[in-house]
Amino acid sequence: MTEGRQIIRRTGKTAQAGVGGTGLQLFATVPLGAEELTAAELTRLGADTIAPVRGGVAFSGDRRLLYRSLLQLRTASRVLLQLGQFPCGSPQDLYDGMRTLPWGELLTPDMTLAVDCTLRDSAITHSHFAALKAKDAIVDLLREKTGSRPNIDTKTPDLRVNLHIAKNQATVSLDACGESLDRRGWRLDRNDAPLRETLAAAIMLHSGWDGSVPLLDPMCGSGTLLLEGTSLALGQAAGAGREFGLMRWLDFDRRLWEQVLREERAAAKESLASPVLGYDRDPKAIIACRENARRAGLAYNVAFDRKPFEEAEPCGHQGVLVMNPPYGVRMGDRSSLEPLYRKIGEVFKRRFTGWTAYLLAGDLELAKLVGLKPSRRFVLFNGPLECRLLKYELY
Ligand SMILES: C[S@@+](CC[C@H](N)C(=O)[O-])C[C@H]1O[C@@H](n2cnc3c(N)ncnc32)[C@H](O)[C@@H]1O
Repeated sequence: MTEGRQIIRRTGKTAQAGVGGTGLQLFATVPLGAEELTAAELTRLGADTIAPVRGGVAFSGDRRLLYRSLLQLRTASRVLLQLGQFPCGSPQDLYDGMRTLPWGELLTPDMTLAVDCTLRDSAITHSHFAALKAKDAIVDLLREKTGSRPNIDTKTPDLRVNLHIAKNQATVSLDACGESLDRRGWRLDRNDAPLRETLAAAIMLHSGWDGSVPLLDPMCGSGTLLLEGTSLALGQAAGAGREFGLMRWLDFDRRLWEQVLREERAAAKESLASPVLGYDRDPKAIIACRENARRAGLAYNVAFDRKPFEEAEPCGHQGVLVMNPPYGVRMGDRSSLEPLYRKIGEVFKRRFTGWTAYLLAGDLELAKLVGLKPSRRFVLFNGPLECRLLKYELY
């Protein structure tokens, strides 16, 4: 057994709370509205004791599951490994509680450290103050043990600690991600108003598209929906090829990581049975899409073409159409968009009989102008903006 395994097992044991069950206590932070989708993803990955809460999903599993969750989860923003919980009604409680955790096994003085803090309904009311106090406790402990202290690096630390204090109860975790999970690494972000990859994944998971029928996005922007959907349908590991924070942990098991990565890559398909097409009227968007597809390794799976929505044609008797038209918050002006939404309804009715369409609506008044009755509505958040994903069955 490696030193690393001992560390993780002990930290797992020190956790006084969490989801229960055996193994590591883990928590995925999730954009609002996508919690059940993340829970379903975790079920498919074989996680234990999955418990969705607002803004996240608690789960447990072994180290392999932790690595797989980083590589595979598409709707989650971060994965945290819980170290421990303690009552925290005062700054002294916080300082003392932090010192009960096994920092000496997680950090050496030549490593860098950062502490992030979120607070809710607690006696301590300033998150920056709480983060400083927690950092002091860790640094003091290490200095007493070793004679020197780790430095602080808030941008790219070797160890990022997550402190969450709610109702005077502190939960201390390690952030396994580094950069958040939505940063898949393939997007150049050249075009306006791209969706976050996590939101695009949530939309594609709601659609249930599996590659067996054509997929079309007639206003594809940066191509996020199509690239995320194709990668999902191929079963690719979303995080393959990128760096994660836990790779700098003392107990990082590179051999296991490489093995998990090989298995995930071997399980992915190379191509899909049906075409995937993206149109946009903006030539810059099409250039960005093609570059993004190339960077994502999907250049041969997805085709992009410059075309106005008004000329979009179905590429088969049935298929899935996804779209995220402009809705006036970040692009375009609301009243000038009204004709576009009427046109969407017209094109759906006239040309896409037999298809199922999903429209992400940031403005429900505009969406009503589509003039068709959605068969389902899903609530999703685009950042702080509450949106509806509307499903239309175009008989
Ligand atoms: C909100 S963005 C889509 C972002 C995209 N879902 C992504 O994540 O990258 C809307 C896109 O619709 C395109 N668009 C607007 N009106 C259009 C029309 N009539 N025909 C084709 N594309 C249009 C814009 O050029 C823009 O790229």
